[in-house]
Amino acid sequence: MRKLIALSTIIVGFTVLQGCDEGRLYVDEMPIPPEGRTVTLTAHLSGLASWPDPSMYVVLAGFNDDSDYALINKSVPLPAAEGDEVSVVLSGIKENVTRVELCVINRLRKHILSFYTIDESQLTASNEIEVNAGTLNVGMYNTIQERVFNSTCVNCHGASTSAAAGLYLTADKSHAAIVGQPSKKLQGMSIVEPGDAAKSALYEAISTDVSITDGWHYNHTAEVVDEGILAMIRQWITHGAKED
Ligand code: HEC
Repeated sequence: MRKLIALSTIIVGFTVLQGCDEGRLYVDEMPIPPEGRTVTLTAHLSGLASWPDPSMYVVLAGFNDDSDYALINKSVPLPAAEGDEVSVVLSGIKENVTRVELCVINRLRKHILSFYTIDESQLTASNEIEVNAGTLNVGMYNTIQERVFNSTCVNCHGASTSAAAGLYLTADKSHAAIVGQPSKKLQGMSIVEPGDAAKSALYEAISTDVSITDGWHYNHTAEVVDEGILAMIRQWITHGAKED
């Protein structure tokens, strides 16, 4: 019996030691190779062609917490047909990168918004990371609908029984309700005038203080505070305000 206890002590001790060792060994065994880590992301993508490359474009990019600017990035190839599978390989990912995102950046490589994130724990688990991001609609208008209209505007513009100013910004109605439609509040403007953000009441409402100076019933100035999101809406209008 004593032998058995001694034996199990040795086994347990050994396992514990091995456990402790593993952390150190793990670091020793998995150094980032000089050429860096590689992430391969696969997804069924639609809407990619709607981005006005190179003003704004969809990339697989590496970031860290200190900056909004991509440290490394790779453009995403267009799928053969809408919804087809594409793969993008980002290699040369060094230690300074703490997350990799499928995201939109601008021409200065500043982060605008993210569609899919590979976090630090996934990133450090291997030097060859493969992820499947599933099916994503990254279309510019779809993104505006989901990130802007659905997240705030529809509360007053159509999600309940009424729509402020008769304006529906809900998913099935928004595009037809805004593009080329005359503004009720700003004379001579459309709600969205394709090609001209300055003549678009929607852009004016969220990027200027017109809703205060013009005495609207709701102050829209704090609706969209993120400069990158505002820029995305402006780009979308400037590039024709297309639905896909
Ligand atoms: C809390 C309610 C509320 C929210 C949220 C809201 N709005 Fe409005 N919006 C209004 C009201 C009320 C009016 C009408 C103002 C008036 O009649 O004076 C209006 C008017 C407008 C108009 C003018 C329509 C026209 O015909 O000229 C636009 C454009 C507009 N909103 C866009 C937006 C967008 C885009 C968002 C989201 C980013 C948004 N609104 C969020 C309440 C809201």
